[in-house]
Amino acid sequence: MTFNPIKIVNVKYCRGDDIIKMGRLAISNRKIFFEYDDEFLKTKLELSPFKLPLRSGAIACDGNTFEGLFGIFNDSLPDGWGRLLLDRKLTKVGINPITITPLDRLCYTGSNGMGALMYEPEISDSEALTHLKDLDVIADECIHFQDSDDDKYIDDLLVMNGSSAGARPKILVSISSDEKLEVTKHDPKTSHDNWIIKFRSSSDPKDIGCIEYAYNLMAQEAGLDVPEAKLFKSKKCDGYFGVKRFDRQKSSFVHMHTISGLLHADHRVPSLDYETLLKATRYLTKDILECEKQFRQMVFNIFAHNRDDHSKNFSFLMDKDGKWTVSPAYDLTFSSGPVGQHCTTILGEGKNPSISHMLKLAEIVSIKPKTALTIIDEVKAAVSIWDKFADEAKVSGKSSKNIAATLNQI
Ligand SMILES: Nc1ncnc2c1ncn2[C@@H]1O[C@H](COP(=O)(O)OP(=O)(O)OP(=O)(O)O)[C@@H](O)[C@H]1O
Ligand SMILES: [Mg+2]
Repeated sequence: MTFNPIKIVNVKYCRGDDIIKMGRLAISNRKIFFEYDDEFLKTKLELSPFKLPLRSGAIACDGNTFEGLFGIFNDSLPDGWGRLLLDRKLTKVGINPITITPLDRLCYTGSNGMGALMYEPEISDSEALTHLKDLDVIADECIHFQDSDDDKYIDDLLVMNGSSAGARPKILVSISSDEKLEVTKHDPKTSHDNWIIKFRSSSDPKDIGCIEYAYNLMAQEAGLDVPEAKLFKSKKCDGYFGVKRFDRQKSSFVHMHTISGLLHADHRVPSLDYETLLKATRYLTKDILECEKQFRQMVFNIFAHNRDDHSKNFSFLMDKDGKWTVSPAYDLTFSSGPVGQHCTTILGEGKNPSISHMLKLAEIVSIKPKTALTIIDEVKAAVSIWDKFADEAKVSGKSSKNIAATLNQI
């Protein structure tokens, strides 16, 4: 099948209840350009201040980090699971995925991306499902899809995935007041709550959902700002981990930007240090309390052995008046990074970060030693009662013990 690459993509931004033109993307000789809309320039909103600052005229994207795409738009593209789904769908209809450009991929995202940006022309050839199937059936379909070449369920899985990012299978759902689950549709006027439900990939332990839920409870105890979470019921396991979306607030969309997208730091290779993350937090939010919030998450990642702390696992939110905050913490779970080290290093240390690394970093970013020590004590106290959260979340005895053995060494 021949595919005509898209040359121009219009980008819109949902600002509170309004949808406004942000600008347009173009591709020429494999180079990607963006031009802000004249009206948008007047808003003075810096949606991506480091790599796409507001200015008139065509701006060329530097470097090739995201196949030449600006980080702000790369944040709208699925990676891992969502990319696998789209690539297999394209292959099924006779399009070689390597022939399509990031601009084409944005058109597949259309109005179904996370965050507050939308792309036109939208390519959508799957009829949106209105009601979800049973979660156990979806979980089985995800495993079957990964373990075979069978593409029978691809359209359903694609629609349900809704351009979400991350390696693990997931679906985006809306929950109505009578607790009915539906596939999330682009509908800024909806009053439904929006959730992400995550499923296992074939290499994950059976109780991965329970472990992530236990971590959510432990993080809350440690004083982190975490989204509301729960285990969605299953007849086959102890539940699927779900979190309420923080990029949707009733009728409005919230601009969300990962540190990966903000700095063009590729999340697939270790490309970040907490020093850079904390300095960027200070610069963006201009608020020491936000910096302390980010510091607390770092301390939690260290004590709780969450070493898959890559650059897409930290996000910032911007409100409609341009104010940035650190997003609630997500993807908190027991994990290993590359060769067992943290993906994001602590003053260069990935293997054995110590309290002195944490305190030194606090000093560099002007967090008072007393505040840093209090944060460290509070996080340590929460992690020391891991068993309590493991029990509450019904983590299996085997996983709970394995995790406890690692946590006790820290
Ligand atoms: N509560 C939330 N609200 C809005 N967006 C979220 C929320 N939780 C996660 N996200 C977004 O969804 C993406 C995928 O989620 P998450 O990191 O939990 O998935 P994952 O598949 O486990 O990721 P990884 O590839 O890091 O293992 C995140 O990078 C983040 O952009
Ligand atoms: Mg993640």
